[in-house]
Amino acid sequence: MNIRDLLNSRFRAAMTAAKIPEHCQPMVALGKNPQHGDYQANGAMAAAKAMKTNPRELAAQILAHLDLSGIAERTEIAGPGFINIKLSTPWLASQVTTFSQDPHQGVEQTEKPQTIVIDYSAPNLAKEMHVGHLRSSIMGDALARILEAQGHRVIRQNHVGDWGTQFGMLITHLQDQVALEGAVKLADLETFYRESKVRFDEDPAFATRARDNVVKLQAGDPAALKMWKQFIDISVAHSEEIYAKLNVTLTHSDIHAESAYNDALPGVIKTLQAKGLAVENQGAQVVFMDDMSDKEGNPLAMIVQKSDGGYLYATTDLAAVDYRCNRLKADRVLYFIDARQSLHMKQVFAVSRKVGYASEHCSLEHHAFGTMMGEDGKPFKTRSGGTVKLSALLDEAVIRAAQLLKDKDSDLSQAEQEEAARKIGIGAVKYADLAKTRTNDYIFSWDSMLSFEGNTAPYLQYAYTRIKSIFRKSDLDTETLTGQIALIEEQEKALALKLLQFSEAVDQVAREAYPHQLCSYLYELASLFMKFYEACPILRSDVEPDVRSSRLQLSQVTAQTLKRGLDLLGIEVMERM
Ligand code: ARG
Repeated sequence: MNIRDLLNSRFRAAMTAAKIPEHCQPMVALGKNPQHGDYQANGAMAAAKAMKTNPRELAAQILAHLDLSGIAERTEIAGPGFINIKLSTPWLASQVTTFSQDPHQGVEQTEKPQTIVIDYSAPNLAKEMHVGHLRSSIMGDALARILEAQGHRVIRQNHVGDWGTQFGMLITHLQDQVALEGAVKLADLETFYRESKVRFDEDPAFATRARDNVVKLQAGDPAALKMWKQFIDISVAHSEEIYAKLNVTLTHSDIHAESAYNDALPGVIKTLQAKGLAVENQGAQVVFMDDMSDKEGNPLAMIVQKSDGGYLYATTDLAAVDYRCNRLKADRVLYFIDARQSLHMKQVFAVSRKVGYASEHCSLEHHAFGTMMGEDGKPFKTRSGGTVKLSALLDEAVIRAAQLLKDKDSDLSQAEQEEAARKIGIGAVKYADLAKTRTNDYIFSWDSMLSFEGNTAPYLQYAYTRIKSIFRKSDLDTETLTGQIALIEEQEKALALKLLQFSEAVDQVAREAYPHQLCSYLYELASLFMKFYEACPILRSDVEPDVRSSRLQLSQVTAQTLKRGLDLLGIEVMERM
């Protein structure tokens, strides 16, 4: 049990013993109190409000029943009714010793494993992956890693866009290319898309063939499907190259494309009609949302089938909710999609509940995110105003990181430098994104993300190599370190407490899906380590052997936690820089 949960349960017991009625017992909000490095509870104030009594008196009653013997050194009432808790140093020392030997490296295992579906990355396969796909891919992946580490059953769903009218145009262009050159040559998806689009817009005969191909695809014509499949395979292979570069765990088997729901779509319409949810409107099938209205105050309408019989993005998403909740038996479904699709998701969720695809036991969560901006404050674009390809962005990151290492006069071999450049460059791009509050837009800046100072991946990776170098210098094997960790100096205590808060940080991200909380945690951890390292000599000859061993253990568990935490974010470390 992490410290927060432990304190919470003790508080709950104390409130019950103090005869505070259950319904007046708040969630004990425990703030961390950086001045004391400990905790502060404001539960008495919330309870006093509910009971209409004096908060300081109620705090005193809770304190009288609060059993923190062995855990806290001191408790006190502060201000309008806060309860401050100063944890016991020997207790922290024994906790951090246990922590250092934890087989799960500090990630608490869940008592109630859930089935959690995560919908992320999901590029449109008609085009090449661009920067707009970065956030979904890496945030979804961080959550997948974190929830899996806690012992949940995670089902990744890459809901790629592989269906729709654009594919008619693309396979028509592909047919012509094959006829002309005898083979499929598709080096650059972006150019290919642009060429097809130009032909579609300018050549009426081509446009007619493209539309025919859409009809053929929908009717399951084998020749058209074969062409389509070739195109999709090439596009998927491209995405998989990006996932490998990005260290994103999505594999081929995680693809559950839009087209996989095609057969289910007529059934969705039938069910919506049978429940009286879908009605005909100008030939189309529409669901009117009585509890959501547009700007004019009219009920919002969600079209689920066009008048020509075609289905929509929303129809597929309804089928996907049904599949995820009822076939995959998800307890939670997490969607990592741009905030611009918030209304769409809200409607899909509302209709899914009404039609019975998602019972109240299945939590549907859209974890929306803002846009990546250029340094000019406008959406991130190439100099000529085009979309930035993700592969180009990642290549540039690695080149820039390599330059950084050169400037640093690193004594790594050529091969080691290349590997470090890859980990630093990719890590910097991912971390800069994950470290921002996801709901905001953020400014993409090479200089700040590739800095060795501040809340960046290079800073954390560097902190890790610093600790590793202590071990290289000491000639000690980390495995042979044993014995109790002792916390003598304030900096040691602060570091130990921070280490013990690792699982709280991880758990918070698991629940709320804001990865920046784990980033902030790791940054604070690295900073506290640096303070400890300045204040507490380790290898100096006058340091007692058991003190040295204790400090080495603290260093080792810090390194392990930094590595573990970064790994949960999908970022690699290196032993040397
Ligand atoms: N392919 C979509 C896009 O690029 C994202 C799909 C997100 N997932 C979903 N179930 N709608 O905008």
